Amino acid sequence: MTSFAIVIDKTETTLVRVGYDYLARMGLLIQKELPHRAYVLITDHNVLELYKKEIQTLLTDLSPKGELIALPPGEEQKQIFPVTVIINRLVELGVDRETLIIALGGGVVGDIAGFVAAIYMRGLSLLHIPTTLTAQTDSSLGGKNALDLPGGKNMVGTIRQPQAVFIDLKFLSSLPAAEWQNGLAEVAKYGLLEGGEYFSLLESQSENLRERRLEKLEAVIAGACRIKKNYVEIDEQDRHTRRFLNLGHTLGHALEAASGYAVSHGQAVALGLRGELALSRRLLHLPEAQEEKAQAFLDSLGLPRKASFPLDRKAIVACLKMDKKRESGQVRFILLKNIGQPFLAAGIPEAAILSVIEEIQ
Ligand code: GLY
Repeated sequence: MTSFAIVIDKTETTLVRVGYDYLARMGLLIQKELPHRAYVLITDHNVLELYKKEIQTLLTDLSPKGELIALPPGEEQKQIFPVTVIINRLVELGVDRETLIIALGGGVVGDIAGFVAAIYMRGLSLLHIPTTLTAQTDSSLGGKNALDLPGGKNMVGTIRQPQAVFIDLKFLSSLPAAEWQNGLAEVAKYGLLEGGEYFSLLESQSENLRERRLEKLEAVIAGACRIKKNYVEIDEQDRHTRRFLNLGHTLGHALEAASGYAVSHGQAVALGLRGELALSRRLLHLPEAQEEKAQAFLDSLGLPRKASFPLDRKAIVACLKMDKKRESGQVRFILLKNIGQPFLAAGIPEAAILSVIEEIQ
């Protein structure tokens, strides 16, 4: 098992553990490392169905026995009304500030439980047990949580660090292929941002990643978590360098939104990475040989080169203009000077954006 801490300051520290097949010991580990007066585990019906026995054992191993809240699965739950239902349930259960909230699931469960833990009685302790590759390498770390509004995704939320994130790679064996690809795109993002040894590690592990040989991937996942730790510790509030974690996502989110969310997040981010690499090369920041190396690396992970759906260039550019991270009316892209050297770029000519959309069409 790999363990380390994300340290924001003396009062906000997250213990991160990464290992393979320790769900059966999770209850005892929580009891030892995060003892609380009460526990409420939030999950969804899909995860509960897959891990019913293990979740029951976990709850029974907690003393006093933990309560369970299982949500209907899906992004629609990430809205204000369903969240008020959960909050009322916490009131019924008599939950107070000495309770630990345990979020066991993917990104949606993590967002909802994280939001609830951040606002209920002005804040409860939170443990994430992420079950998807995206949640294990990205969304469970760094304290962001958010709900959707009719006007846009992730429009309401907080940044509040969890007390711990316990990552068990074994969960990933039950992931659907599209979910695995979503996570692979995030892992690839870390390789491109970090370069150096982590990029070489990913290159050497590309077959294990493609074939999902989980027992071989602890160093890959723990490495991604450590890279995220470095960004979060320096810029918890997402004002400057944490934004580098958006590599591939500015264009990726616009592709997703322009398709009416018909395309998977993984495909959108993979194409976003490809497009932003091409944009880096076109604007003469990234040498051609580096772009080819980066594109070949994405190929080695089995990530798509071209969209499997029609790209509406006008709609994509309109969505880019709506990007919630724009500043002074300008869309900001994370581009690369080299593999491992990201920077924030604004004022990108629309013609350059249109031509990279052609390249991924
Ligand atoms: N997912 C990007 C971040 O946590 O900042």
